[in-house]
Amino acid sequence: MTSSSRPVPGIDPTRIPRHVACVMDGNGRWAEERGLRRTDGHAAGEEALFDTVEGALDLGLGWLTVYAFSTENWKRPIDEVRFLMNFNERILVGHRDDLAAKGVRIRFLGRRDRRVPRRLVKVMDETTAMTAGNRGMTLNIAFNYGGRAEIVDAVAAMMRSGVSADKVTEAALRRHLYTPDMPDPDLVVRTSGEYRISNFLLWELAYSELVFTDLYWPDFRREHLFDAVREYQARDRRFGGLRDIDRPG
Ligand code: FPP
Repeated sequence: MTSSSRPVPGIDPTRIPRHVACVMDGNGRWAEERGLRRTDGHAAGEEALFDTVEGALDLGLGWLTVYAFSTENWKRPIDEVRFLMNFNERILVGHRDDLAAKGVRIRFLGRRDRRVPRRLVKVMDETTAMTAGNRGMTLNIAFNYGGRAEIVDAVAAMMRSGVSADKVTEAALRRHLYTPDMPDPDLVVRTSGEYRISNFLLWELAYSELVFTDLYWPDFRREHLFDAVREYQARDRRFGGLRDIDRPG
């Protein structure tokens, strides 16, 4: 628990996941079912995102990672891609002061290629810099992110820094990931009834608990995050070992 967290019924404060990652899926279908444009679905996802961030602060989470734009999302119609670029910029500018005041540190993980508009890169860099000293929750925004790309980039970075083949270990590779100090997610939540990882944090998810919900992202609220954490706390994490036999009763 942190100073800003509060007790949540049915959740053991001593076993809060350190890191939760969310795949915010179903914005398009949410909109289409209402006869709206897909971009209206993304816009409706904003409230879901910031209510979830508030819920994460309620719980005292150390890390929350959200998948905002994948390396595969460039394949979407140009108008939707353009909307998402502007939307991300607007969301950051609109919320960063409030998040900074709540002690949130904001970071980005993903590739900085030339397709990402310069204005957005500038806002991302400013946001990282202005929140770098915060010691509350870290909000990681996966943007132009792909799990395979991250592993490829880590291997390239290792080779550039001259790591020899006999020094290539899991620990060495981890040190070259986008955010080496980030603990692996304990829990991943994916909305919209899809049961896939979709190239999200492939290295880091090796032992994460996965929780899926049929809700579309725009309908997701902190209560649903709490439900996912309750489900997480009911699970038995063995990390390939046999720790369950040691449990009392
Ligand atoms: C997936 O829905 C959602 C996205 C591609 C974007 C989600 C982004 C946000 C909610 C804002 C994030 C902004 C920041 C700054 C963190 P979809 O279009 O894949 O839905 P569908 O599967 O129904 O088509």
